[in-house]
Amino acid sequence: MTVGIDLIHFATADYYLGLDTFAREKGTELEKYTVGIGQEKMSIAPPDEDIVTLAAKAARPILDQIDPNSITNVLFATESGVDQSKSAGAYLHGLLGLSNRCRTVELKHACYGGTAALQMACALVTANPKERILVIAADIAKYDVDSSGEATQGCGAVAMLITPDPRILAIEPGSGYFTEDVMDFWRPNHRATALVDGKYSTKVYLNSLKQAWQHFVSETGRSFEQIDAFCYHIPFSRMTEKAHKALCKTVGARLSKNTFQTQTQPGQIYNRVLGNSYSASLFIGFCSFLDNAPDDLSHKRFGLFSYGSGCVAEFLTGIVQPGYEKVLMRGSHQKQIQARTPLTYEQYLTFYYPATQDPDNVTFDVNNRGPYRLSGIQHAIRRYQNRS
Ligand code: HMG
Repeated sequence: MTVGIDLIHFATADYYLGLDTFAREKGTELEKYTVGIGQEKMSIAPPDEDIVTLAAKAARPILDQIDPNSITNVLFATESGVDQSKSAGAYLHGLLGLSNRCRTVELKHACYGGTAALQMACALVTANPKERILVIAADIAKYDVDSSGEATQGCGAVAMLITPDPRILAIEPGSGYFTEDVMDFWRPNHRATALVDGKYSTKVYLNSLKQAWQHFVSETGRSFEQIDAFCYHIPFSRMTEKAHKALCKTVGARLSKNTFQTQTQPGQIYNRVLGNSYSASLFIGFCSFLDNAPDDLSHKRFGLFSYGSGCVAEFLTGIVQPGYEKVLMRGSHQKQIQARTPLTYEQYLTFYYPATQDPDNVTFDVNNRGPYRLSGIQHAIRRYQNRS
């Protein structure tokens, strides 16, 4: 029996800030963003969109294709948690009307959380093939105004259905992982925005890749040459190029420009116009690869590198299943990206850094055009609206 991703769909916000607008505002050359970090736009969530509404928007098209009562677990990975106790998964469970015979939990380790959820889901399904698991990775990336990270914000949620005999990607047993207690990026409880030591974080990312790869090789015996395509965690799309170059150096591979591009480029297309979506970013990159690769990917082995600051990393592989094309939701992904409304820099500030208000009692203006929205918070209780 194989286990892995049976269906995958992502959602993003209805608005974006162009890095052209951003560069004008900051008096910076546009090429610093389009070439230097490889980004064009950042998806920006209005105050009535949060990780729960993004997750519900991502999951809805999956649930529409199956019996929602068959979901036995919701594993919700995020570092943009909306409550210190109640899991975002419980809000999502209610909004989606899932069965009460379901386990629900929230998982966290920066951008790595989604991979932890995926691996745990695969282990649960392997132990009991009756399990049908909804894995969510959802985040809204927020840094301080005028910080080095501001150009790398974004948001998105990925929903994945994990089952036996999956139709998209069979995850292979064995992986390489690495943990080190470092301060490259973190967000203390009292802060809405992350703190980052930007240049150091890219160094730690690359070292973690090398460490996780070496562990992967010793655990699985698989080699670089046996992997056809690579998806990396994408904080900004140029990080993929840096990562793949570093991995090639580690294994002593000398790739032609064409092979390098074929192995990595289709995975960057969506992230370039969405920005960082933290825990969702690797999987949006995977969707981007599947949706945009010019060739049939059936039977191809994918290498997935997950990195979460602080830091935890993992390198794993999976085999794309024949017939995967029939169950991709490419149309929905592309429609959402194209339908977004551009923001001025001032509008972005009002969405991301709203004037101080009572956090326990607030009603939000209607900006979110999706099927689910956060209408407000009354007496510290979040009120969601289902318009689906
Ligand atoms: P910076 O200081 O804004 O930019 O920091 P820079 O001056 O280093 O320039 C960036 C690149 O653009 C450089 O290229 C410049 O040469 C180039 P590189 O040296 O990297 O090859 N450049 C230009 N190119 C063409 N034309 C121009 C031009 N000007 C400059 N005119 C930094 C960049 C990434 C540090 C910043 O954006 C940042 O702090 N980002 C946030 C942290 C981050 O994304 N780190 C990535 C690794 S950690 C990670 O991925 C985890 C994370 O997702 C969080 C989590 O796990 O939860 C962040």
